[in-house]
Amino acid sequence: MKESTIIAHAGRAPLRVGGPVNMPVHRASTIVSPTLEEFEANERGDNMFRNVCYGALGTENSFALCDAVNQLEQGAGAVVTSSGLAACTQSLLCFVGAGDHVLMPDSVYGPQRMFCDTILRRCGVETTFYDPRIGSGIETLIKANTRVVYAEAPGSLTFEMQDIPALVSAAHANGAVVIMDNTWASPLYFKPLVHGVDICIEAATKFIAGHSDLVMGVIAARTPELYKQVRAFCVQMGEIASADDCYMALRGLRTLKVRMEAQYASALELARWLERRPEVKQVLYPPLESDPGHELWKRDFCGGGALFSLVFEKMPRKAVAAMMDGYRLFSIGASWGGYDSLVELCHPDRTALKRIPPVWNGDNCTLVRYAIGLEDVDDLKRDLEEGFDRLNAALAAS
Ligand SMILES: Cc1ncc(COP(=O)(O)O)c(C=O)c1O
Repeated sequence: MKESTIIAHAGRAPLRVGGPVNMPVHRASTIVSPTLEEFEANERGDNMFRNVCYGALGTENSFALCDAVNQLEQGAGAVVTSSGLAACTQSLLCFVGAGDHVLMPDSVYGPQRMFCDTILRRCGVETTFYDPRIGSGIETLIKANTRVVYAEAPGSLTFEMQDIPALVSAAHANGAVVIMDNTWASPLYFKPLVHGVDICIEAATKFIAGHSDLVMGVIAARTPELYKQVRAFCVQMGEIASADDCYMALRGLRTLKVRMEAQYASALELARWLERRPEVKQVLYPPLESDPGHELWKRDFCGGGALFSLVFEKMPRKAVAAMMDGYRLFSIGASWGGYDSLVELCHPDRTALKRIPPVWNGDNCTLVRYAIGLEDVDDLKRDLEEGFDRLNAALAAS
């Protein structure tokens, strides 16, 4: 079945005459059992992987969403979490214990880095941050107690690509699990599990939900054993998302492909145009031929998330503010993946005391990140152009 058809039909109950197209919202804590026998089976957890038996263990809506995302990931099963960050932290915690070691890319999402430096450390787990461009060189960092090799490609501020197959083969040769945050590409433009990654994370907050109105994560697993491990762990941790949010996320998912295609096309057109602007030193976007990660992206990915950063010469804050404050269409805001365009000033070296100096940092440049939405691309271009006019006027006046 083609991907567009999966997106339209996955996770839906069989159509019945007179029934709604979308599964209704099943808000639930208690689920009543028809017999004592079934109640006791639920209590033992016998039905945990199949049936709705208590709201905190899942609802019809969360099971439906998990089914749909899992089909797109081509996994063995998926679970929902309360946020994208919870998907990152819980999937990591699931595989480590005191005395273990984790390898984490230096470009990783800031709060995940903070989690390693604080909570994971307190649990007795050591983290080594590695250069995301290390490729098969990861082998030299793997120790006898390395349990997880974590990846995020590209990095969501500085957009370094990672050689995922090389990380997978080194990790698996040494008995480590590979976990990847795949939020930028979404399951449409890269399928980590098909490339041997064991656990794939999507911050559903972004492209999957797509409307900037909910926070959620999804974790998909490559094998039934890994799925059972993650599912049991998330149940124990009380990880769940509400039935209403799962309904909304599944509704968002139905248009994922058309949104991604439109947003990617606009992002690429704008990135190409921005590369030629004299104000811009570099556009960090792997789908661009000029990007250092382009060859890896071309080899493994089949599209791009509509998120990139612009590198400028180090600029006075006033000039950056003049450019950003005056945008009519780009709202200043964190997050991405919605239908609305956003802009954010980044501090890649500040996310939590990076150990490996990033190529671009707050001393040598000004880094601004753009999330491209569904607006008309020419209108976005005009908004950016007017921003450059304000920037140039502020620089001339300073
Ligand atoms: C790459 C990446 N992963 C995970 C997350 C966390 O998602 P959430 O905001 O849903 O916690 C984010 C959020 O910005 C992100 O950029």
